[in-house]
Amino acid sequence: MDGEKKSIITVKNLRKVYHPGNETVVALDRINLEIHRGEICSIFGTSGSGKSTFLNQLAGLEKPTEGEVLIGGVSISRLSEDDLARFRQRYFGFIFQAYNLIPTMNAIENVAAPLMFQGIDRQVREKLARKLLKDVGLGERMMHYPREMSGGQQQRVGIARALIAKPKIIFADEPTGNLDTKNTKEVMELICDFAKEYKSTVILVTHDPEMAQFATRIVTLIDGNIKSDEIKNGEEK
Ligand SMILES: Nc1ncnc2c1ncn2[C@@H]1O[C@H](COP(=O)(O)OP(=O)(O)OP(=O)(O)O)[C@@H](O)[C@H]1O
Ligand SMILES: [Mg+2]
Repeated sequence: MDGEKKSIITVKNLRKVYHPGNETVVALDRINLEIHRGEICSIFGTSGSGKSTFLNQLAGLEKPTEGEVLIGGVSISRLSEDDLARFRQRYFGFIFQAYNLIPTMNAIENVAAPLMFQGIDRQVREKLARKLLKDVGLGERMMHYPREMSGGQQQRVGIARALIAKPKIIFADEPTGNLDTKNTKEVMELICDFAKEYKSTVILVTHDPEMAQFATRIVTLIDGNIKSDEIKNGEEK
């Protein structure tokens, strides 16, 4: 580990309150946190502890009630919706529990999709997509549509898609929630290996203690508060 840790995400006094019906739910209660470049940071906790709410805040998918989130020094909480959408496209990759592939697109087209939004030529983006699909072990499944693939295969497509634009931060909310033990391990290893190769930071939401162990850091939430923050030794080589 070299001593120099660069901050990539800064969370300041972050509070999120929902008002369903006439109730008040404090989903996040003034959270402060600094996440460093290259960390694989697991947001861990039981159901309802605020994990998804926290991820949505870090990724700028919802506005905070109070406080702010800074990514590389930019307060994303203050960006306009258009600027935020561009920021997300440029710097973030997302991996979802339900894979969220486009059913009418084959594996190559799904993986290449984020580059389409960046206006990159079809040939260029599909060449990159092919390479990534090979890297995630799907060289034989390039022309398959999502319905023609297993859950584990679909999630590999999801990983390749999240990586294609070389994101600075990968957000994954229960990415192995629908997979068996063997696939869970393989998918987690893929995410972690690629994160290292691409020098990406990973925010991994999970309620599963075994999944959390893949991370270099485990931030545990209880009722919208940070209960513990454990940084593992030797996380960075
Ligand atoms: N859009 C919303 N409107 C109202 N309440 C919400 C909303 N989203 C989340 N909550 C509430 O905020 C709290 C935290 O929810 P959150 O989805 O972040 O939990 P979680 O840790 O991701 O749980 P799970 O492991 O079940 O996915 C819960 O009490 C939930 O009911
Ligand atoms: Mg959740």
